[in-house]
Amino acid sequence: MELRDRDGLARICRFRNVETPALMPVVNPNKIVISPREMMDRFGIQAIITNSYIIWKTPRLRERAMEEGLHRMLDFPGLIMTDSGTFQQHVYGDVEVKNKEIVEFQRDIGSDIGTMLDVFTEPHFSEEEVKRAIDETARRGEEALRYKGDMLLAGPIQGSIYPNLRRYAAKLMNRLNFDYYPIGGVVPLMEEYRYSEVAEAIVIAKKYLNPSKPIHLFGAGHPMFFPLAALLGVDFFDSAAYIKYARDDRLLFPHGTVHLRDLKYPPYFSPVLERYDLGEVKSMPKKERTRVLSEHNLYISVEEIKRIKQAIHEERIWEYAESRAREHPMLLKAYRKILRYRRFLEKFEPKSRKGAFFYMGRESMQRPFVLGVKRRLRNFPSRRMVVELPRPWSANLGTIPKDAAVKTPFGEVPLELEDTYPFAQSEFPWDEKMNVPENYESVSYEEFDVAKIRAIADFQFGKGAADALFSGKIKIMKSKNTGKIRNVIVDGEHVVSLRAEDGLFTLKIHGAIRLHRVFEFPRMRIVVDPDSAEFNRQGRNVFAKFVLRCDPNIRPGDEVLIVDGSDTLLAVGRAIMNCWEMRHFTKGMCVKVREGIDRPKSGLVK
Ligand code: GUN
Repeated sequence: MELRDRDGLARICRFRNVETPALMPVVNPNKIVISPREMMDRFGIQAIITNSYIIWKTPRLRERAMEEGLHRMLDFPGLIMTDSGTFQQHVYGDVEVKNKEIVEFQRDIGSDIGTMLDVFTEPHFSEEEVKRAIDETARRGEEALRYKGDMLLAGPIQGSIYPNLRRYAAKLMNRLNFDYYPIGGVVPLMEEYRYSEVAEAIVIAKKYLNPSKPIHLFGAGHPMFFPLAALLGVDFFDSAAYIKYARDDRLLFPHGTVHLRDLKYPPYFSPVLERYDLGEVKSMPKKERTRVLSEHNLYISVEEIKRIKQAIHEERIWEYAESRAREHPMLLKAYRKILRYRRFLEKFEPKSRKGAFFYMGRESMQRPFVLGVKRRLRNFPSRRMVVELPRPWSANLGTIPKDAAVKTPFGEVPLELEDTYPFAQSEFPWDEKMNVPENYESVSYEEFDVAKIRAIADFQFGKGAADALFSGKIKIMKSKNTGKIRNVIVDGEHVVSLRAEDGLFTLKIHGAIRLHRVFEFPRMRIVVDPDSAEFNRQGRNVFAKFVLRCDPNIRPGDEVLIVDGSDTLLAVGRAIMNCWEMRHFTKGMCVKVREGIDRPKSGLVK
């Protein structure tokens, strides 16, 4: 996987020419309704999934697949994943194929991603049964890995409804080092709208699996659940829902399902319903109608993935998932369950986003992002005076009070953080009050400017940062247009620039030198391999495969210090992964370097 874009745990990656999150429609080689070629050409589908067991047990298909290979047989040049007979074994009882045999078969017909024969775990299974299934899956997994050849192999994470057993399965399977991790055993939960148990299974799997491996949700089904799954970092969704629902005359929409007979005003654009009159569709012969409805269903599913990607790109996935979660009580329950894992999720949270923080209900304040904000506010001792102020805070005052905090939904915030994310960049559905004592001790505007840069430094980089960065003769440069602080020069050295959009600093190499001197190893550090060091000194980006160690507190979007094995400073830049991810990814960039120690860039921000 190569990380391309992200928002929290949600991510856009590249995996073998496929951009994720991606929908893998299920193709039954015996009953093709929309051909794989059409899926690619008309719906932009880059990956499909089919069942190798069905091919294996159908002599005609088996021979063709062995002769021509899977890609030619299905006429699909994209990525093809194959499932084993697990689900069939589970639903219909005995499956005559063995694990080794089906893995070798998938390999021999040229599947891109094959699946071992895992043991399905049902929601009604006892803990003992589930544990046994997981152990047997792991045992077969070891065997499957020996026969996979060059094919990528998927190792499903089972665990039914038991969080402790999901964790057990994830740890066990992670140790075996599969190429790809589906989350299994969730179809019966999905069918009963037990989304919170599915969400919990995903979070736990994510927590214990290598973050550089693709995560797949087996039988994700309805697009209603896609946003919450993507929020948790699911990369692939397979779904037969587009065809299954069509056979029952049901239409998928992002918010739910509508039976054809009840559909009068189609709420979303669909090229299919655009082309046919609704009455015409209703009176079509069954076969033709199924085809038309499955096209609609596939289109809506693909569209939902696109909306999700756009939300990730805009860094609004939390708002998007939260608004979608309001469309079904069971989704809301799932969202609330997800929020219980906010301590883990916070490790992926940036300190600011492109857009403002939107309050959309009481759950908003439980988002992992808020946890991070509250933690960073603890870097400040409590203030002498707490006031209530409409924004912009200091502009609503004649003079600046000394040592004041402002009451906000995030907690009591030092007045100096008035331009900093999220205090200035957040929207709440209530009016802001003004409540300031009459006679207060005030400070001059010059003093306030210095207090501001100091508060931002301690908020962003932690306690001690202000002392390290700003000891010396401070010169604060402001924008001629807006009057806002832009650059801070200390003893003639450009130390930081202040970003207008989020009121946080970008660190210059002189600022990095100061923090590096004062902050003890490994704080803010990323230790790189000697092979990378020379390049980074010259200002080149850091690639994840060269990271040897890092500060576990690093979050995506953080300013970081690049050092070599003896903690010599090489460069300063902005992380795009957290430390855990950097240590696991073997492809792609993990720090965008701003300046190398050998190639400092001047550049005051106007
Ligand atoms: N399809 C849907 N669920 C599962 C599962 O748990 N395992 C496998 N192999 N395929 C599935």
